[in-house]
Amino acid sequence: MATQLGSLKMWWVVKMLFCFVLFSAPMVTVAARTSVLGTGAGSSGQKLEVEMQLKNLNRPAVKSITSPDGDIIDCVHVSHQPAFDHPELKNHKIQTRPNFHPEGHPFGESKVSSSKAKPITQLWHQNGRCPEGTIPMRRTRKDDLLRASSVQQFGKKKHKSSPQPRSAKPQPDLITQSGHQHAIVYVEGDKFYGAKATINVWDPKIQQPNEFSLSQMWILGGSFGQDLNSVEAGWQVSPDLYGDNNTRLFTYWTSDAYQATGCYNLLCSGFIQISNEIALGASIYPLSNYGSSQYDISILVWKDPKEGNWWMQFGNQHVLGYWPAPLFSYLSDSASMIEWGGEVVNSQSDGQHTSTQMGSGHFPEEGFGKSSYFKNIQVVDANNKLRAPKDLGTYTEQPNCYNVKTGNAGDWGTYFYYGGPGRNPNCP
Ligand SMILES: *[C@@H]1O[C@H](CO)[C@@H](O)[C@H](O)[C@H]1NC(C)=O
Repeated sequence: MATQLGSLKMWWVVKMLFCFVLFSAPMVTVAARTSVLGTGAGSSGQKLEVEMQLKNLNRPAVKSITSPDGDIIDCVHVSHQPAFDHPELKNHKIQTRPNFHPEGHPFGESKVSSSKAKPITQLWHQNGRCPEGTIPMRRTRKDDLLRASSVQQFGKKKHKSSPQPRSAKPQPDLITQSGHQHAIVYVEGDKFYGAKATINVWDPKIQQPNEFSLSQMWILGGSFGQDLNSVEAGWQVSPDLYGDNNTRLFTYWTSDAYQATGCYNLLCSGFIQISNEIALGASIYPLSNYGSSQYDISILVWKDPKEGNWWMQFGNQHVLGYWPAPLFSYLSDSASMIEWGGEVVNSQSDGQHTSTQMGSGHFPEEGFGKSSYFKNIQVVDANNKLRAPKDLGTYTEQPNCYNVKTGNAGDWGTYFYYGGPGRNPNCP
């Protein structure tokens, strides 16, 4: 295992060097040009770089579906997905189903929801489905790449330059970057083999296009140094990444604290998708309304004890795919921390706190139908059982801007409300 990982890391180093040499000159051009986007043709070097990257990101489609939101969903043969470009995965035998599924309280599996139990779907389903043997991939466009700070940076979280050192007091969010704000709950100090949550879905307002608002779970392994392993899934609104304000399903992974490895969705080699029904990065539909209908999505991530792959399930029946074990170091054993909650970017653009919302944009005190929730949060233990998390911690940088409040009750199991409006009289 150690040598495998060694060669994997080595490959990335080589690849990054290659990219740097090949793209360092044009990258400057693209970064400088983003502000004058659309005013003329780019240099031939930039054009070539964008074309190459688009060809790398988008795969030949068996069928394409135009979603009502303008997305194009390409149905790509399962063996043509980006994951198989990864040198560690060239001879990977695709797993068509997990060997094990965690057992436990079937929260969210039943139809006992207190709100209307309409199934959550994806908007593009209104115009078609992908055939068996293919996976739906959201097509990346030229404009998506031109919005990124560089073509190579597209689809990646911004480099976390200085993770905070661990202190005596638990500081779960050591991946803090200036301007990022959180309202989360977490467990640590044990070995975890997965996590589950049912997440209320909203459309928070984003003040600046370079900000985002997301609600997700993090499955973390290792320290918060240079080699943090993370597997993440949830919903996000990110104008920079998608070019609109839609609420979208997303995943993320990294094995080196967001440096060279990992990306959102299928925007690099890594995650192996098997489902032909759910597209990563696609808009979720319908969304919750303040004081009215509430909708939520269930996400389960767990480690297959036999193969070591980390699987993801969306809703009750969609096994989406998996992150193969060779991608990770710490997570190839187990996770050491699980976090659930919201994150936004506060760009402080006009010297004031941003008015970008987290969750529904309303504080936890407002409760059901008004504040956003995570319910039935669970962890997978060493016996492959789902159970309620013990000793839940909470963390938020500025509770007057975004807050979190936990609870425990019958059908909802362990739950919390989280979020807020950002700028307000108490959060100037
Ligand atoms: C996103 O929403 C903001 C306001 O919240 C608006 O100013 C902006 O134009 C929207 N962007 C798009 C691409 O619709």
